[in-house]
Amino acid sequence: MNLKNIDSHFRFGDNWQSYAKIVDEDRIAEALKGLEKLIPADGLKAKQFLDIGCGSGLSMLAALRLGASNVKGVDIDQASVDTAHALLSHHAPGEQWQVEQASIFDLDPECFGLFDVVYSWGVLHHTGDMWSAISKAGALVKGNGVFIIALYHRTPSCNLWRIEKKFYAHTGKWQQWIIRCIYKAAFIAGLLSTGRNPFKYIPGYKGSRGMNWHHDVHDWLGGYPYESTTQSEIVPSLQNIGFEVVRIFQASTTRTGIFGAGCDEYVFRRK
Ligand SMILES: C[S@@+](CC[C@H](N)C(=O)[O-])C[C@H]1O[C@@H](n2cnc3c(N)ncnc32)[C@H](O)[C@@H]1O
Repeated sequence: MNLKNIDSHFRFGDNWQSYAKIVDEDRIAEALKGLEKLIPADGLKAKQFLDIGCGSGLSMLAALRLGASNVKGVDIDQASVDTAHALLSHHAPGEQWQVEQASIFDLDPECFGLFDVVYSWGVLHHTGDMWSAISKAGALVKGNGVFIIALYHRTPSCNLWRIEKKFYAHTGKWQQWIIRCIYKAAFIAGLLSTGRNPFKYIPGYKGSRGMNWHHDVHDWLGGYPYESTTQSEIVPSLQNIGFEVVRIFQASTTRTGIFGAGCDEYVFRRK
């Protein structure tokens, strides 16, 4: 298994393990809404669904609830795999799902198979080689199948964030805690200065695919390796490897990216 560089990755799995403790039916309902937005109208009914970089396993659960016949998840981080396994064992016992530790760079369609829907939300930009990861993931999509990816929107602050993330991912827990406090204080000040109420914003964050602001802050500050891109790079690249655009949702990122970047969501179909 090609798990080289795993030590240089941020420990996403620990964060997912902590997040999974607060997953409830409300968060699951929000995850369902997030997935239905990307692939509406029974688009998952009786489909084989692959989640690359499955994290907590919440999207796998959402895919099962939306009618996928078989759901497979992979993640490079064993703690993510264990978390997804526990979440699915609890919420989807007896259903058709499997989860295993693997890197996208190991998934060869000849051995691993092809899928009706390949989904990779917020993952391929954390692999250390985003463009190869995109092409490896795309190669797992069946003819006429759907390819869903979410990738960080490029902003003028991306290079600074890459430095911060590299530091955060490799520093101690106390230093991480201090950086988180500074970031959260600045973010809340930013909300207040634009007339938004943090007491509404932070609990309301659940509306983003069932996520939690505090866990997402840790993920944002530490998510390394880090790359970002633009629609004008992604769309022609995917067209060149045989995909057509079905729909795109642009992230609500500030122009400067000073508080970070959101993920643009792309839905393609293999021609
Ligand atoms: C930001 S999290 C996103 C998790 C999940 N897709 C979601 O939307 O909640 C990124 C995940 O990608 C995984 N990951 C990073 N590099 C990977 C690789 N080369 N192959 C598979 N998974 C990878 C990480 O371990 C982590 O769980």
